[in-house]
Amino acid sequence: MGKNRKILITGSTGLLGLALIKNKPAGFDIYAGYYNFPKEHLPDADVAEYILFDIRSREEVLNVFNKVCPDIVIHTASLGNVDYCERNKEEAWRTNVEGSRNVIAACRNKSAKLVFTSSNAVFDGENAPYKETDKPNPIDYYGNTKLQTELDIAEGGIRYGIMRLITMYGWHHPLERQNPVTWVLEKLTKKTKINIVDDIYNNHLFVDNAADATWSFIKNDKEGVYHIAGSQIVSRYELTCRVADVFGLDKNLINPVNSSFFPSIAPRPKNTSYDINKMQDELSVQALDIQKGLALMKNSPPKEWKYGWC
Ligand SMILES: NC(=O)c1ccc[n+]([C@@H]2O[C@H](COP(=O)([O-])OP(=O)(O)OC[C@H]3O[C@@H](n4cnc5c(N)ncnc54)[C@H](OP(=O)(O)O)[C@@H]3O)[C@@H](O)[C@H]2O)c1
Repeated sequence: MGKNRKILITGSTGLLGLALIKNKPAGFDIYAGYYNFPKEHLPDADVAEYILFDIRSREEVLNVFNKVCPDIVIHTASLGNVDYCERNKEEAWRTNVEGSRNVIAACRNKSAKLVFTSSNAVFDGENAPYKETDKPNPIDYYGNTKLQTELDIAEGGIRYGIMRLITMYGWHHPLERQNPVTWVLEKLTKKTKINIVDDIYNNHLFVDNAADATWSFIKNDKEGVYHIAGSQIVSRYELTCRVADVFGLDKNLINPVNSSFFPSIAPRPKNTSYDINKMQDELSVQALDIQKGLALMKNSPPKEWKYGWC
């Protein structure tokens, strides 16, 4: 039997990081980077070796790479809240761009392949569904930081993949940020009325599907850009209604509104959904529809910890 390949995951405590570790295929040893997450709550310690480091520190990043010597790096660490990035541009740049530059430099130094998780926010939402060959044109600061990193990677002199993800849902750790499904579950379980936009569209992505696509990309030694998304383009309001249906919650609490209802800090593109033919053809990953993704989520509730909404 060959030696296991070493994978370093940055952002391992985030939504995708958890799913990557949970769905890890055989043949890989995982080194899991985290930063603010409390050590005593680190999950799945039996399948990953956790390493505390700040991607913004070139020295810390190089030390970790010297210690681990990864074959492949899945770089998911990021500030992902669009409004937070709009309000805190310097911090967003230091984490998303400078932090990624540290990871790129370390990959070059160790000849490691880099798999970067980019975003639908690189598109302006005017010409969906977007193919991998379409020209990016971000309209918010977060999208600009993700596109800058894509450009830095392409010029980085390394082997790489760019997995452009789209709004994800699934079980996150309760200490990490909510997503459009766990937020709705909390509100509807507490019988809180909610206003949900019915004019913003996406092919929302179940996080386990994103993890499967990423592992398939790695196992098949692919390169280049891939759009990763669910099979159905629906509005946020439709998604929310499906959540209520699947989890048996009260749909009458959901009020559809136009996006102008919310004073948002960052501009919101209307439709950044993806064309997913390349994902399905080349990665052999079946995109899931909303009903299937939510049903899988419902059938695999988290075991190790209790969620705020239940
Ligand atoms: N979620 C989505 O809907 C979505 C959509 C499109 C693209 N993406 C992209 O997909 C990736 C994963 O998203 P996600 O939602 O899974 O992330 P997330 O839940 O927001 O988690 C972010 C992760 O980044 C880590 N992190 C933040 N600052 C750090 C720093 N300075 N040093 C080291 N680690 C740091 C956090 O670690 P600690 O908690 O330990 O500090 C956390 O594990 C991101 O690159 C995001 O841009 C996400």
